[in-house]
Amino acid sequence: MYRTHTCNDLTTKEIGQQVTLSGWVHRRRDHGGIIFIDLRDRYGLTQIVFDPEFDQAALEVADKVRPEYVLKVTGEVRKRLEGQDNANMATGQVEVYINEIDILNDAKTPPFEIDQDKPVNEELRLKYRYLDLRKDRMKNNIVLRHKVIKEIRDAMDKESFVEIETPILIKGTPEGSREYLVPSRLYPGKFYVLPQSPQQLKQMLMIAGYDRYFQIARCFRDEDQRGDRQPEFTQLDIEMSFVEEKDVMAVNEKLLIDLTKKFMPDKKIQNEPFPVITWQEAMETYGSDKPDIRFEMKIVDVTDIVKNSGFSVFSNAVKEGGVVKALRVEGGGKFTRKEIDDLTELARIHGAKGLAYFLYEEDDSVRSPLTKFMSEEEIKGITEKTGAKAGDCVFFGADQFNTACEALGQVRLACGDKFNLRDPNVFAFLWVHEFPMFERDQATGGLGAMHHPFTRPMDEDIDLLETAPEKARSIAYDVVLNGNEIGGGSMRIHEQKLQQKIFNILKITPEDAEIRFGHMLEAFSYGAPPHGGIAWGLDRLIMIFAGEPNIREVIAFPKDQKAKDLTLGAPSVMPEKDVAEANVQIINAEKEDKRDVFTELKELLDKGGIKYTLLEHKAVKTSEEAAKVRGTDLKQGARALIFSTDKGYVQSVCSAAKEVDEKKVAALIGARNIQLASPKQVKAVTGCEIGCVPPFGNLFGLQVIIDQSLAENDEIAFNAGRHDRSIKMKFKDYSKVIGTDTKDISK
Ligand code: AMO
Ligand code: AMP
Repeated sequence: MYRTHTCNDLTTKEIGQQVTLSGWVHRRRDHGGIIFIDLRDRYGLTQIVFDPEFDQAALEVADKVRPEYVLKVTGEVRKRLEGQDNANMATGQVEVYINEIDILNDAKTPPFEIDQDKPVNEELRLKYRYLDLRKDRMKNNIVLRHKVIKEIRDAMDKESFVEIETPILIKGTPEGSREYLVPSRLYPGKFYVLPQSPQQLKQMLMIAGYDRYFQIARCFRDEDQRGDRQPEFTQLDIEMSFVEEKDVMAVNEKLLIDLTKKFMPDKKIQNEPFPVITWQEAMETYGSDKPDIRFEMKIVDVTDIVKNSGFSVFSNAVKEGGVVKALRVEGGGKFTRKEIDDLTELARIHGAKGLAYFLYEEDDSVRSPLTKFMSEEEIKGITEKTGAKAGDCVFFGADQFNTACEALGQVRLACGDKFNLRDPNVFAFLWVHEFPMFERDQATGGLGAMHHPFTRPMDEDIDLLETAPEKARSIAYDVVLNGNEIGGGSMRIHEQKLQQKIFNILKITPEDAEIRFGHMLEAFSYGAPPHGGIAWGLDRLIMIFAGEPNIREVIAFPKDQKAKDLTLGAPSVMPEKDVAEANVQIINAEKEDKRDVFTELKELLDKGGIKYTLLEHKAVKTSEEAAKVRGTDLKQGARALIFSTDKGYVQSVCSAAKEVDEKKVAALIGARNIQLASPKQVKAVTGCEIGCVPPFGNLFGLQVIIDQSLAENDEIAFNAGRHDRSIKMKFKDYSKVIGTDTKDISK
């Protein structure tokens, strides 16, 4: 038996009992011959004591253990000495005197400390995610995530929803993002697509009569990464039949309130029921379709006041069909030049051409570079419309509607932060609805669906589809929390004719529609009920619950900001045989050629805080030549070879004074076939010419096997991705970066 209790169980009730615990060595202290260890498992910590007077043999074993060793220990629960209680630990009143200890496993020194809250470079955290997940922060987030999802499942079940899994290998869905393709082995030239969401399938489930569906659904979108976006993320996906917008809102609102009350009891929900505002109002008032309404600071329209202004930026914007918007910031009159410049830069990043402003002095006069171009009347009109008072500031956006609003919306958020108006203890939910049906694609000039092409237009706007489709609004809605879009959905079109009309506007020809959505149109012809639904970005909601700054912190194994899985090393080069079998031809491997391995390597070492010497020398081709120009012994050279095997590519590294034994490498990785990679393959896999591939196969997603011969050198040297550059560094540091033990792979 490995344990009678977890490391979070023992209290004064168990004093005197014999107990067995298993866990990891969290922290170890040696106090004059007595060793104290905090033993850790998922549940918590228990202090265990090795005292020579209690058990000399156990102490001797304990002397060998290091942080993160895995132990099984047995001993007696005792009350801690007077004054030694630790109020921060659930088990802080007791300790266990150990008389039996089993080292279940040893552990290398982790690349970062598990027992401390110090910030760690995120790349390192992601590479060693299994170690990062041992820490309290991640543990709490992962458990919270589990609990929230369980609560959702229970609540949905109570409301008669059925969870139905939908496939991951599907035909493309038109959600608007780039899709991940999966080549078909059986059908050359054909592809599956990973779902951007289960949109089409959940609509088919409505046609099938499962009138209340939900799923904790994995979605895949090959889009640019940001803090609240991942290529692979999770939705709470919902679809309902015989409902209207308000029914979908009601179900979701109740669930969001219940979850908040259960998991975030200390947060104040700002409004119940949630406010419902139109997209137009959200944009006009807050400059965002996902407004943070924890604070007011509303944008107002001053177009009429300044349309004939002598300040041409304003009058020209209006002439060009644009608007002029104004944002009053209370207390902003004291903004410094630098603060205004920073806010101007922010507005520019969001498309504005500038950020004109009025500063209201204490005597109510207006300080601004523009007043000289404006009439008394205009200034007065603006002051009245914005309600500006002495000590305030008013910012202006003069542009097309969306740009003017969005730029001021960003300035609004930044000012909200400056004046601490975004209260972290308040949860401000709201619904934004009546989105435009379509948006104009800047590149093509054509209309695209704002939500997706199955979104239902508002009944009163159906006529506009013919006359002015851009003005047509949809029955689409987003649920927003503190400025984050946490969910979005819509009522759907269930009539073929209307669907056809939308396809026409989107310039999807009947032939094209048949190819892309023929299956949907066919399904709609077999009695589709009125239906609608929504999907939550579950990662985002949990991120806000956990108080984390990005969704990676609430995902066990997230991708990094460049869409890489650093834990597993994906994406990776696949064996040529597998690629051929998938009927795929690699055509842009030259992209890889452009990789600057030299810079990547330096970055890797610099980020890890590793010391190394960079040597510049004439181009060298052989190990002997290299040793000479570097002034090092031949045996210090790290010979890095790439092998092609039926298990994929691997890199072996041995001393340049030795030869690698292929058979040993093959045996180690369980490969049946192994051969040295061709120069072309090496280039494709690493982006380097042969002869200068650095021994950091991890940079290329390769497994690295280090021969013990290299470890005999205190310092090693190697070509750093270029024939004319070498790096010299401690072997100890090198093996730390690679993170594996040395093996015997040389002849
Ligand atoms: P939508 O595309 O709006 O709608 O997505 C729904 C919600 O999913 C979250 N989300 C993301 N979260 C993390 N990473 C991403 N890359 C990402 N993209 C979106 C957002 C968003 O509100 N099928 C429709 C829903 C429907 O109509 O029922 C859909 O997927 O929080
Ligand atoms: P300029 O005439 O370009 O020197 O601009 C005068 C002031 O107007 C500066 O404070 C600019 O930041 C601001 N400004 C310029 N274009 C715009 C615009 N489209 N909207 C709002 N402010 C602007």
